[in-house]
Amino acid sequence: MGFTEELQRRRTFGIISHPDAGKTTLTEKLLLYGGAIQEAGAVKSNKIKKSATSDFMEIERQRGISVATSVLAFNYQDKKINILDTPGHKDFAEDTYRTLTAVDSVIVVIDVAKGVEEQTEKLVEVCRMRNIPMIVFINKLDREGKDAFDLLDEVETKLHLSVTPLSFPIGMGYDFKGIYNIWEQNAQLFSGEQKQTVTHKETYASLEDAQLEKRIGSNSLEQLKEELELVQGVYNPFDKEAYLSGKQQPVFFGSALNNFGVQELLDCFIDIAPEPLPKQAEERLIQPNEKDFSGFVFKIHANMDPKHRDRLAFVKIVSGTFERNKPYLHVRHGKKLKFSSPNAFFAEKKEIVDISYPGDIVGLHDTGNFKIGDTLTTQEKIQFQGIPSFSPEHFRYINNADPMKAKQLNKGIDQLMDEGVAQLFTLHLNNRKVIGTVGALQFEVIQYRLLHEYGAQCSYENLNVHKACWIGCESEDHPEFVEFKRVKQKFLALDKQGQLVFLADSAFSLQMTQQKYPAVQFFFTSEMT
Ligand code: G4P
Repeated sequence: MGFTEELQRRRTFGIISHPDAGKTTLTEKLLLYGGAIQEAGAVKSNKIKKSATSDFMEIERQRGISVATSVLAFNYQDKKINILDTPGHKDFAEDTYRTLTAVDSVIVVIDVAKGVEEQTEKLVEVCRMRNIPMIVFINKLDREGKDAFDLLDEVETKLHLSVTPLSFPIGMGYDFKGIYNIWEQNAQLFSGEQKQTVTHKETYASLEDAQLEKRIGSNSLEQLKEELELVQGVYNPFDKEAYLSGKQQPVFFGSALNNFGVQELLDCFIDIAPEPLPKQAEERLIQPNEKDFSGFVFKIHANMDPKHRDRLAFVKIVSGTFERNKPYLHVRHGKKLKFSSPNAFFAEKKEIVDISYPGDIVGLHDTGNFKIGDTLTTQEKIQFQGIPSFSPEHFRYINNADPMKAKQLNKGIDQLMDEGVAQLFTLHLNNRKVIGTVGALQFEVIQYRLLHEYGAQCSYENLNVHKACWIGCESEDHPEFVEFKRVKQKFLALDKQGQLVFLADSAFSLQMTQQKYPAVQFFFTSEMT
């Protein structure tokens, strides 16, 4: 197969959801359809159980699983599918945001009974901002849930999406009989033992099929017809261009656990989901079909074994081919590196690969050369945009608890920050180090990993910070900016890239400061937009 065919057959996407909506179950069912696994239950859940806060073995176990499930690749029909794992736990939301920079589309899973939940809102917002094509899968139709139209409304109003159903449930919960596939214009009825798996699937080519009426009854059929009419009246028909530009989101209904509607979702997905998309670098837009290789690091995973300090850097290939043992330019360091054992991912296994194509993810063994956002190319000096840091939610001073191990502590903090575990800010006034995290869990992870991987001990001290804002001003010597820096000295810090950050101690003081210094710009992501 040539380069163009390889490129065109790749579909790289992420599944996002609030925890428990059914992301793991759906992933597993997709892998089953792809023949990548043989039985249900084979994909390990990477869910952080509630007890994990103080259970470090649990955290380590989860880290192990999260390496295994970082990329799940399989072939389905003539397509090569790469699913990028996105942690659902909110303390790891930042990981998910970064992974979303490497996907070409997403599937959003929503629980039919719970509707749109908090984590879904946040993640969809990130996708919306980037115009990522999204398909919505409403799951758990085997249970009693909200009315389909109410749910579609909720998705539109809470997630600010513009939906169009491509399937519609026939009944729900106990009465759930099947799916009318608007995309393929046929009806599918499912039956199986205790509804645990589909053992029997009947397809009816149209609603006028007399057998269909016999099977579901005239009342159900009438209701379905009315509902489909309403769908037609209320929602715009599916428009592929609108979907691909993030302006319209098709919706499917089903039950991942029971295999209802999953194949319909997958078949439509491979039909409409985008192949690898161009990506914006600071210098220019990079097209996937360019001959020269380019890619970027979106995730770094430290080795679980403290004796081997190497890490695995996950690189999304944007253009060209990535080949084993070829020298590539590490743009930030300005030096060429060769990789003798790049890993490719297949289902839950990783194996050494000679050549990878746009859309693929390669795992590169790294001894500390990479940090998140780094660009690799054949030779061109470009830097991909779009792996911003978001303002952390929790802040603490980090202190050295073992003066003999200062070097180890600094190295450990440095590497953990490169991995994106948390963010480091250094206060202007006294050079004290402040760690900012998205969730409280990370403080314990950092302490544990510093000790076990670097032999360093740290302690924390509380610090009253509400938000970190990246600061900009059109001119360095604008009088307001100079005044701001003088008056607010105590609250200023530098992030790891040396960008100026204002650590506001409350929402009120942030607001007051913004009002007082209108010439100063406050940004909530390091991308400063
Ligand atoms: P997540 O990755 O989004 O967090 O969700 P996960 O797939 O782990 O699913 C969460 C729970 O919902 C699981 O039950 C799973 O079996 C169940 N589930 C997923 N899809 C469906 C569905 O279509 N119908 C029904 N009724 N349940 C579904 P659990 O009891 O938490 O875990 P387990 O013991 O079954 O693994």
